[in-house]
Amino acid sequence: MVPENIDLVPPSRSVVEQASVPDPEALGERAGQDPLAFWAAEAAELEWSEPWEQVLDDSAAPFFTWFPGGRTNIVRNAVDRHLAGPRKNKLALIWVSEDGKETRTYSFHALNRQVTQMANVLKAMGVGKGDIVTIYLPRIPEIWFAMLACAKIGAVHSVVFGGYSADALRDRIDASESKLVITADGSWINGSVFPMKDVIDEAIRFSPTVENLVVVRRTGSEVTMDPLRDHWYGDLTSLPIAKGPCPTEPMAAEDPLFLLYTSGSTGQPKAIVHAHGGYQVGTYATTKYVFDIRDEDRYWCTADPGWVTGHSYGLYGPLLNGATSFMFEGGPTFPYPNRWWSLIEYYGISIFYTAPTAIRSLMRFGKAWPNRHDLSSLRLLGSVGEPINPEAWHWFHEVIGGGECPIMDTWWQTETGMFQICPQPVMPLKPGSAGRPFYGQEVAVLDEQGNEVPTGAEGMLVLKHPWPAMFRGLYHDDQRYIDTYWSKYPGYYLTGDSARIDEDGYVWIVGRADDVIKVSGHRIGTAEVEAAMDSHPDVVEAAVVGLPHEVKGQSIHAYAVLRPGANGSQELAEAIRLHVAQHLSPIAKPDGIDFVESLPKTRSGKIMRRVLKAQALGEDVGDLSTMDTEA
Ligand code: PRX
Repeated sequence: MVPENIDLVPPSRSVVEQASVPDPEALGERAGQDPLAFWAAEAAELEWSEPWEQVLDDSAAPFFTWFPGGRTNIVRNAVDRHLAGPRKNKLALIWVSEDGKETRTYSFHALNRQVTQMANVLKAMGVGKGDIVTIYLPRIPEIWFAMLACAKIGAVHSVVFGGYSADALRDRIDASESKLVITADGSWINGSVFPMKDVIDEAIRFSPTVENLVVVRRTGSEVTMDPLRDHWYGDLTSLPIAKGPCPTEPMAAEDPLFLLYTSGSTGQPKAIVHAHGGYQVGTYATTKYVFDIRDEDRYWCTADPGWVTGHSYGLYGPLLNGATSFMFEGGPTFPYPNRWWSLIEYYGISIFYTAPTAIRSLMRFGKAWPNRHDLSSLRLLGSVGEPINPEAWHWFHEVIGGGECPIMDTWWQTETGMFQICPQPVMPLKPGSAGRPFYGQEVAVLDEQGNEVPTGAEGMLVLKHPWPAMFRGLYHDDQRYIDTYWSKYPGYYLTGDSARIDEDGYVWIVGRADDVIKVSGHRIGTAEVEAAMDSHPDVVEAAVVGLPHEVKGQSIHAYAVLRPGANGSQELAEAIRLHVAQHLSPIAKPDGIDFVESLPKTRSGKIMRRVLKAQALGEDVGDLSTMDTEA
């Protein structure tokens, strides 16, 4: 929504005085006139072993290629290039364990040593250029080493979030045909062990491709090791194979860097593909400009490396800028709701990037918790994943940021790889709006027919120009790439979000306009949850919708048609919820389940989720002319 009389929050004096880019309007105008010159200048700040022949080749659009002819490797720019200068002994990573008893720090020199060691191990196990390695690890430094080690030798990483269950993991490993998986014995979640190794054992028991499983010791829990398949990482590193240098493989700019599975509105999750060259330029530039990151900063992105935020702005963006990052194994409220605030104080965090759902949940505990801590090291805050409501925005701004820190509400997607709509530090902010398109980008809000809607009206958000960190497609599925993103409005990228643009050009994201639900910022496809429910023996058919939720943004509400004779009891509802948690992920568990006789469908048999949603919200169900049955 575009609220009436929205307050405009000007940048504080200190932000203006210190700004690296005091006039983003002017830079934006120059970039707008010649986006390719802007991107070429950004790319030139990084190292390439061979220069590119062209900045953008759009001759086969929507299959765009960026910096064709150029050779580089993101690790060369994220790690190697810092080793030659004064950053060599600077901290790249500070890590703290969930119980707070362990701290591990890595300078760029030490990070390089660790990455090289893991890269040597991977190579010795037969991993080469173009091979896809699945990584299923907790929030520990080894997840960074593993991702960087893959990139260094030209392998493609496919990180699966550590909270996914065996079925979801199996689907992702099978689809990417990984021969090697890197995991841990377990992970810590609020003082308990989550048995990652057991989950992976189940996921790969019948895998036709996995030959080796590398297991990092984390929890010390007892696990079963398959002598032919499983290897303790700690044992491998003491072998001669792990020793010695490992060259960083020069890659073609368009060579794939990673796959990341994300949910779509239909069917199986799709594997988003990102490439070395453009991705490094996009994440480097956006981190530099939007977070105004500097050598003296201590930067904390709370996102798990298993999500795109953890890839672009946890790992790569900050390292490309030579920044010091902080990684915390645990969550915000364990053992008390001041956990994050105490870490910000203790480690002197200056840039803090998190999600609205976390802010809202911490807000509920009251400001006494943050007020016990000196948070004055903070100078810039960030938000991502879903719209931030003005109330949470103001709390974040006042209580955490002391009224001084600008909030960068960054809109982007797994597909975009980098920010597309975001403020700049010195820009006046409108709480609840993600600001304006990033340099070189333009957006539009369209109606069904493809016409731009009037200022302030809601419609489908599209991006008008290609950008360097754009995904290069869906793994093995060119047609779905074209159909999902480029067909509805030819020439424009369809975001799947609904939005409004106000008279100042600020964009207000309303939310997903497709069958994707955003639960606590996590992207969940209705089809995946429904498939998990359908696999319960008592469920004949299921439908799920997203309903507004005060803390989570949206919650999942489900409808199930039961097999004849099944008793629609509270216990069964609980059992189905648990089934979804076990087969997909606890984050996908429906909050509530209604048992119904039938589901409303179109004549062609598609479930009409909008009817279910409208009914749940007590709203007008709208046009039912294509409907087949009553709910
Ligand atoms: O609906 C938008 C929402 O998150 C979606 C992308 O989800 P995912 O690929 O998981 O990436 C999340 C992290 C980049 C978008 O289509 N979204 C993301 N950031 C914002 C947002 N909605 C509103 N405001 C944001 N800042």
